[in-house]
Amino acid sequence: MRIRFKKWARPEIAASPFCMDDAFALAGKWREQFARPEQPFCVELGCGKGGWVSQAAVLHPENNYLALDMKSEMLGMAKRKTEAAFAEAGREPDNIRLSILNIERFSEVITPADNVDRIYINFCNPWPKEGHKKRRLTHPRQLRQYAAVLRGELHFKTDDRDLFTESIEYFEESGWEILHKTFDLHADEPADNIRTEHENMFTEMGKKIHFLIAKPPADAFGKPVPNLHAPDTVKLLRALEKQHYIGILTDAEFEAEKQKILTQCPQEPEQDET
Ligand SMILES: C[S@@+](CC[C@H](N)C(=O)[O-])C[C@H]1O[C@@H](n2cnc3c(N)ncnc32)[C@H](O)[C@@H]1O
Repeated sequence: MRIRFKKWARPEIAASPFCMDDAFALAGKWREQFARPEQPFCVELGCGKGGWVSQAAVLHPENNYLALDMKSEMLGMAKRKTEAAFAEAGREPDNIRLSILNIERFSEVITPADNVDRIYINFCNPWPKEGHKKRRLTHPRQLRQYAAVLRGELHFKTDDRDLFTESIEYFEESGWEILHKTFDLHADEPADNIRTEHENMFTEMGKKIHFLIAKPPADAFGKPVPNLHAPDTVKLLRALEKQHYIGILTDAEFEAEKQKILTQCPQEPEQDET
């Protein structure tokens, strides 16, 4: 869905005390950004308009929440929603922080020193086309980033059955343990479930909500994660692709050289939008 440009979003985010404008500068220092750093640290990926995180942070002052989204328009709306929710509750937003981030770069911003207690992924884009699946927030290359910083559980909700079943495979093949899963969360909706904007919308459309809780492999915490955006890796692969394209390298030579590079960086770097 294309979001209409909101020219107020960036200035409002920049002026807000609970919106952090340089997420990269806060790597390893997220806990210090909250009034009570010792509280459990929960991160929502792709928070959209902030309906979920604003409710969660008001309902649970005993937790700290960081919500991330790549679109400033979304974060602007999340900021307004957070202000409204905390004003209604008569509290300062001291346990919530919002920031703009492309989750592809998660490990550059959230490090093991941040000691994440819980990650929430609510209704991420399903990316159904084969060539786009690596952009899914549950793709193994993302799971590797989360596992390196997560001490507790990841909670994942979606209406998309294919995304859900394939994500179960991603978790399992990445060594995560699935602690709980349901294809119909609302059949017996937990009292503490907080519905997101998309959850309400899909429920009204009669769609079932799928939900799982997973735990990363015990030995993954603190493991270095290859940086997909490292300029050297991207440059090397681009040069190789060019040589292959113009016929200097055969298919076999190209694959062999590519594997050599990917041994240092075992994930495909991000390609340009097509
Ligand atoms: C379908 S919306 C869901 C919003 C909200 N979580 C909900 O349940 O209502 C997906 C959100 O994820 C964000 N998003 C998608 N890919 C992302 C990425 N790679 N990094 C950060 N945010 C992303 C989009 O901007 C959008 O706001």
